[in-house]
Order: sequence, then C-alpha cells, then structure tokens
Amino acid sequence: MENKRWYKDMVFYQIWPRSFKDGNGDGMGDLWGVLEKLDYIKSLGCDGVWFSPIYPSPGADCGYDIADYIDIAPEFGGMEAFKAVLEGVHDRGMKLVMDLVVNHTSDEHEWFQKSRRRIEPYTDYYIWRPAKQNGKMPNNWQSNFEGPAWEWDEVRGEYYLHLFAVKQPDLNMDNPLVREEVKKIMKFWLDMGVDGFREDVITYISKKKGLPDDHLFPIYKGMPHYNHGPHVHEYLEEFKHDVLDHYDCVTLAEAPLVSPKRALEYIDEENGQIDMMIQFQCQCADCLFTDWLPTKFSLRRLKKAFSDWQYKLEGRSWNVLYLENHDHPRIISRYGSEKFRCESGKTLAVSYLFQKGTPFVYQGQEIGMLNWRPSSPDMYEDVHTKNHYANSNTKHTQEERLRKLWRSSRDSARTPVQWDDSENAGFTTGTPWFYVNENYKKINVAAEEKDPDSLLNFYRKAIALRKSLKVVREGTYKEHFHSSSKLYVYSRECAGQKLLVVCSFADKDIKMKCPRGFDLSNGKLILQSHNGSCDDMLKPYESRVYLWE
Ligand code: NOJ
Repeated sequence: MENKRWYKDMVFYQIWPRSFKDGNGDGMGDLWGVLEKLDYIKSLGCDGVWFSPIYPSPGADCGYDIADYIDIAPEFGGMEAFKAVLEGVHDRGMKLVMDLVVNHTSDEHEWFQKSRRRIEPYTDYYIWRPAKQNGKMPNNWQSNFEGPAWEWDEVRGEYYLHLFAVKQPDLNMDNPLVREEVKKIMKFWLDMGVDGFREDVITYISKKKGLPDDHLFPIYKGMPHYNHGPHVHEYLEEFKHDVLDHYDCVTLAEAPLVSPKRALEYIDEENGQIDMMIQFQCQCADCLFTDWLPTKFSLRRLKKAFSDWQYKLEGRSWNVLYLENHDHPRIISRYGSEKFRCESGKTLAVSYLFQKGTPFVYQGQEIGMLNWRPSSPDMYEDVHTKNHYANSNTKHTQEERLRKLWRSSRDSARTPVQWDDSENAGFTTGTPWFYVNENYKKINVAAEEKDPDSLLNFYRKAIALRKSLKVVREGTYKEHFHSSSKLYVYSRECAGQKLLVVCSFADKDIKMKCPRGFDLSNGKLILQSHNGSCDDMLKPYESRVYLWE
C-alpha cells in the first residue's frame, strides 16, 4: 500500500498509562482514565497517541515485560476499555500507536515457560546457552540494567540471555517461528485498527553469531555485538514486506546510541524498513551516553545533536522530535531551570517544536512537571534504579547516593500526572500506586488552564502555529551562532515563508542576536514567551518566533 506519510503532519502525545489518569479508583492509571482525557489531549493540538505497553505483564519493568501480546491488562481495563479508547481516538480524527516490545518477553510468558521445559516448538524461542567450564557464564555481556546479561535457569539447566532485567529474557529472532509470532502480533493489532507501532529497542534484535565476548565497550558491555546486529535489516524488511506494507500504518524505532548515518540505513525513505527513529543524542547534553553518567548541561551539545539530525536527514528521512519520555528525568530539571520553570519550559518547547519532524510530548511535560525527589531510596520502583543503587559506590554518603537517584532515575518522571490541587493531584480517588510529587498544589493542569500565560497554554499556541505554517512542515533548517553557549537560534525556509526561532538558555538578560539576512523590523513576531517584550534584550529564558511571508 502506498505510504501516505500522514504522520508528518502530526503531533503525538505519549501516555505512560499507570501514571496518566485513574478511571476506576484503584490507584493505578487506566484506559477509562484515558477515555476521560482524550478531549484534553486533543485540546493540546495533539492528534496522535503513543501508549507505553498496556498488555498483561507482571510489571517487572512497568509493562515492558510482556506476558501476553494479544490482550490488554485487566488493571488497565482489558480489551473492552481498549476498544472504547481506540474508537474515541478515531472519532476525534486522531491516531493510536502501540508499543511493540519484541526484543524480549516476560519470563512469565507462556513461550518462556515452555521453552525452559524444552516443549516444542518453543525450545529455541530464546537465547539459551550451557555454562562454560566451572559454571561460568557464556560471555561477558552486561545487562542494560546493570549486572550480568545471563541468568541460570534451574529448570532447563542452562543460562538465558537478558539484555534488560532478569525477568526479561531475550527472544531468539534468528528462529523463523519467532518472527512469525511477531508478524502475528502486528497483524492482530493492525486488523483491530491501530495505526502503528513504536518498536522497543528494535536495533537489538539480531545478535552476532557465536555471541563473542566484548573487549571494546566500557559500559553496556556486549553492545557492539547486538546493537545493529547482522540480520536486523533483513528481519525488519521481512516484517515490512509481510505485514506493514499491507496497512496504512507508521513505525518508529527506538534506537539507543544511533548516529544519523546509521539511522538512515533503517529510515531512508527510498529503501528503509521503518518510518522514523527515536534517537538518544538529544538526551545526552547533560550526560555521557546514559543519565547515570551525569555531566553539566551544555547547550552547545544539545544544539549539535538537534542540528546533526536536522541536516543529515534532510531530504532523505523524517525526524522524531522529543525532549521527554518515560526513560529520562524531567527536562526542565535537566536542561532548563526550576527557578524559571515556566520560562525555561517555554524556551525548551520552542527549541524543538519548530524543527522539521514529528514532535512528541510526554505526559506532564506540557504543564512543566519537575523531577520527583523522594526522601529515601526505598521509595523507588524502577528496576534499573534499584539495580543501580545496589551497585552504587557505598563510599559516597547516603545523601550523595540519593541525589544521584534524583538526578538520573527514570522514576523522576514517572509520578502521576498532576491534574488539579485536590488530594492525589486529582489522579485517583483511591490510593495512588506511586508517589505524587509534592509540588502538585502549585503545578497542575487546572491551575494552568486558568492562566493564559501558563506553559500549558503556550504549548497549545506553539502547536497550533506549527500546524498552520507550511514552512515548519517543509522548510529547510539552518542553525545560527552555533558557538553561543546561551542562545539557540535557527531558521526554517521554504518558498514564500521564512521563520526565525530564538531561544535563550541564560538565567539573566542577554543581548538578542539576529542572523544576517533577517530584518526584524519587517518580520512578524508570531510567538513569544514574554508578552510585550520586543527590544534587543532577551529576558531570562526568553524565546521568540518571527515569520516573513
Ligand atoms: C526501552 C523502554 O523505553 C524502556 O522503558 C524499557 O525499560 C526498555 N526498553 C526495555 O524494554
């Protein structure tokens, strides 16, 4: 089927279901809650929804450990609620994208239970290896969640590979039967009417033959042998050819540590196997490869990441634009300023919403939710955070270790959405499954709805503008003043329209800079974070967008 590429006109909203909205009072976000809030999502100007996993799961990795791919977890409302949501989304002219997690399953999945007992045809569904001499593990690979990537299984008497948690065994994608299962899953949801998939760590699905030891990588040991592995393109092509090409759907691949050049091997519009890619470079302006190796925030690094992807994909593919998701702490707490919460939230919004690509907004980002900072390490839920804490250096003080968790844990961004200032932030009438950020009395949707200058209303304005301008969809991108460590300035240009975007990341007044060839005196100021400000000084974290047509 001819790909209509409708996703290029869209803005997606990411729902991390357990913390979005509880509809039945059991303390856990669910699909009934989503149904209540579809109009809210639409009111932002978002017309696509990406759901983090909502399948039955023991919850070892908050749903990314799937026990049944063709059902919806009862705690989220089951299939009945899902169908209601799907209909509600489509009735509003929106699209729905599911998370497809097929690098691994839960160890409670029936396939794994049968595989460990060598029941056919499941025996080779996973990556099993006997122990080496003296019971040693098959190789030196490390899990992405820390610790060894192998777990001994008493039942089978062999090790299995898990690139994530112990309860997330990796599937053996080299087995054609496993690929048939993946295709069945895709078909099942597409036939029901879903509009596409976000494919979890899909660049990991093919491991190098012989699973050799890794002597190269200091962190994520083993990664060179499974990221972009030998058959990954072949398998993705098979999924595309046998299933995806027969539906009008979109695919976005999550790809840790991918460069634009490598990405094009997957997403080139001429011959790629996937439509778009979620890259991590834009998440590394304040860390080295991972949030767990923090560094000082560098605007130059952020700009380089943005511009690299804009320039290198130009004319060949399409960007995913994002700043937040469920895997990273809140962006204002990282790249902005909590003191200038609203202002820096606005400049961050402008910094990415006017680039070329399809933007994603993560729940709570639009109201400027901040990092959660619990008083004790015991309050964390996330498996990666717990592993990290257990392995972390006990020579550091308790306080230092806790601060590191605040700064780096995914749980910092997983607290319930703050809907209003009532008990539990209006998230649930029951006991919330997770802690609500104490700042909810001040930071919540209801309060921001009432304030015309709120971040929430600014997101609405910015998204509406983005959608109304041809130059934002089609124009070429150019960065200006790239050596500035406080200003991010870029322009977009297409026949008949020119756009200039200026974002200050300074916490004091700084001088506005205008690139050559742009005459501000005849440009129209179409969006600004600070009402009435128009002189050549920018207030802290001020942003402006000018248009010529
Ligand atoms: C990436 C997902 O976004 C993350 O939340 C998850 O823990 C891992 N993949 C494993 O599925």
